[in-house]
Amino acid sequence: MNAVASQDQATAGLTGPVLGDDEFQFLRTFVYQHCGIALSEQKHQLVQGRLVRRLRALGLKGFDAYCQLLRTDPDSELGELASAISTNVTAFFREVHHFEALTNEMLPRWLEQKRREGDRLRIWSAGCSSGEEPYSLAMVLAEALERCGRSIDAKILATDLSPAALAAAQKGVYPIERLEGVSAERRHRWFLRGEGEYAGLACVHPKLRELVTIAPLNLLHDWPMQGPFDAILCRNVVIYFDQPTKQKLFRRFARLLPAGGPLFLGHSESMHGLSDEFELIGRTIYRKKIA
Ligand SMILES: C[S@@+](CC[C@H](N)C(=O)[O-])C[C@H]1O[C@@H](n2cnc3c(N)ncnc32)[C@H](O)[C@@H]1O
Repeated sequence: MNAVASQDQATAGLTGPVLGDDEFQFLRTFVYQHCGIALSEQKHQLVQGRLVRRLRALGLKGFDAYCQLLRTDPDSELGELASAISTNVTAFFREVHHFEALTNEMLPRWLEQKRREGDRLRIWSAGCSSGEEPYSLAMVLAEALERCGRSIDAKILATDLSPAALAAAQKGVYPIERLEGVSAERRHRWFLRGEGEYAGLACVHPKLRELVTIAPLNLLHDWPMQGPFDAILCRNVVIYFDQPTKQKLFRRFARLLPAGGPLFLGHSESMHGLSDEFELIGRTIYRKKIA
C-alpha cells in the first residue's frame, strides 16, 4: 500500500482500497500493451478512483488482487478495465457532417456502383460504444437503400472492446433524451415505443437492427475480418492511443479499404504526420490515396 496515499485518504476521511505505486506501474504497462492507452504518472489518483468500483463489483478487497486477476486471466477483465479508464461517451448523429457526407455524396455513389457490380456494401463502426453511431449509420443506409430501390447486400459491422457498451448496443433500447440528435421524422420512423420493462424508452426498429452486426473486438489485437470495407468510422477512439499505436492502426485500416475508401475520425483527432497512405477530403474525413 502507498503510505502517503493512505494517509491522504485517512486525512480526507475516505476509506477504501489504495492503489500502490507498484500496482499503478503494472496497470500502466498492462493498459498500454493491451489497450494502447498511454497513462501518464499524473493519472495515478484518477485510475484509483475509476477502478474502485470495479474492485467492489468483483468483490476484491485490494488492487493487489485486481492485478493478480489481470495477470492470470487478462482477457476476462480487459474490456471492463478499458471502459473504466476511458470514456464511452457517444450520441446519435454525433458530428453530423459525417452523416451528411455519407447521405449526400458517398452512399448514392456506392449504391450506384453496387447496382452495376452486384457487389456487397460494408461499413465498419470501430469503437461503436453503446450503438448510437452504428444505428445512426443504419438510418442513413436504410434510407439510401430505399431511394435506390434495389435489393443490395448492405451491412454495418459494429465493434468495441467494452462488454457493457456492446451489451447496450445489442439491446438497442435508449432513454428518450438520448434521441436528441435524431429528427422527429426519424424518431417516428426508426424507433418503437418500449413496452413492459422498456416502457418510456425508445427501441431501435428491427429493420435497423438487421443491418447491424455487433461483435467484440480489441483494435490492438488480431482482426478476424478480411474486408474490404467501403468505409470505416473510428471516431473518438484513437484519442487515447499514443503515436506508434495510431500509426499501426491507420496502416491496418488502409489494408481493409479500397483506394479512395474513406476513414472517419473524431472531431479532435488527426492523421497529421502519422500516415502517408491517406489524404484529407473533409472535416476529419480521410480517404485512402489513389496510387
Ligand atoms: C468515446 S467512445 C466513441 C464512440 C463513437 N465512436 C463516437 O464517436 O461516438 C470510444 C469507444 O472506443 C472504445 N475503445 C477504446 N479502446 C478500444 C480498443 N483498443 N479496441 C476497441 N474499442 C476501443 C471504447 O470502449 C469506447 O466505447
